[in-house]
Amino acid sequence: MTDNIELTHRQSRVFQPEKLSPPRNFIIPNIITNNKDNLPLLLEIGAGKGKHALSFVSKNPNKHLIAIERTRNKFDAFAKLADLQNTSNLNAIHADAIAWIVHAIAPSSVAKIFILYPNPEQHNPNQQWLNMPFFEFLLSRLQDDGEVVLVTNIESYMDNAEQRATEVWCLPNTRYQVPIDSQRTHFEVKYLARGETCWELSIHKPQGYKTRFDNWHISYDCTKK
Ligand SMILES: C[S@@+](CC[C@H](N)C(=O)[O-])C[C@H]1O[C@@H](n2cnc3c(N)ncnc32)[C@H](O)[C@@H]1O
Repeated sequence: MTDNIELTHRQSRVFQPEKLSPPRNFIIPNIITNNKDNLPLLLEIGAGKGKHALSFVSKNPNKHLIAIERTRNKFDAFAKLADLQNTSNLNAIHADAIAWIVHAIAPSSVAKIFILYPNPEQHNPNQQWLNMPFFEFLLSRLQDDGEVVLVTNIESYMDNAEQRATEVWCLPNTRYQVPIDSQRTHFEVKYLARGETCWELSIHKPQGYKTRFDNWHISYDCTKK
């Protein structure tokens, strides 16, 4: 089983983490270097104005969430609310999640990754998360038995993600319909209010799953000025 997993995902283009510079003003959050309470670490990619992140951390004080948003005005709104809420188990990060994760996150260190209503990228399917070579790197950051939760209102996005999870990434996954009264994110509220169907894919990383990045960790040369 493990051999099949390796063979199949090795056919895809390879992500090249060494080519990515650190995001501007990059700082590694304390939780990464000093997780003294051993809290499970979770990531949210594309957190928007932070509705899900803020609610998640108040309901889950024993988990630490790093929520990353690239768009400046959305991040500013998120950061303002995060300051007001002032919870120690949340880092709101303004960055491109790909570069940030490459530079900050160690292999097998994340329990769960949320990707909630990603940009549809219908004209550029290479940019859909499960189509990107980066997805293999992202999987390497997940712990065994970790989970990726992907939610979208675009049926073709979900069909493709489900197929890629199964056939390319060889990962067990389950697809659900999001309950019509769910209100996790601003986009979820908007789509469900319009009567649209939203889907959720829960992707599980089995024990022993291998990627080409399992031993890849950024190294900084402290002697460089
Ligand atoms: C459609 S919005 C959804 C926002 C929020 N998750 C929600 O459901 O309300 C997608 C968000 O992902 C962000 N995003 C897309 N690619 C990103 C990346 N590489 N790194 C960080 N954020 C990204 C966009 O800026 C945008 O705010």
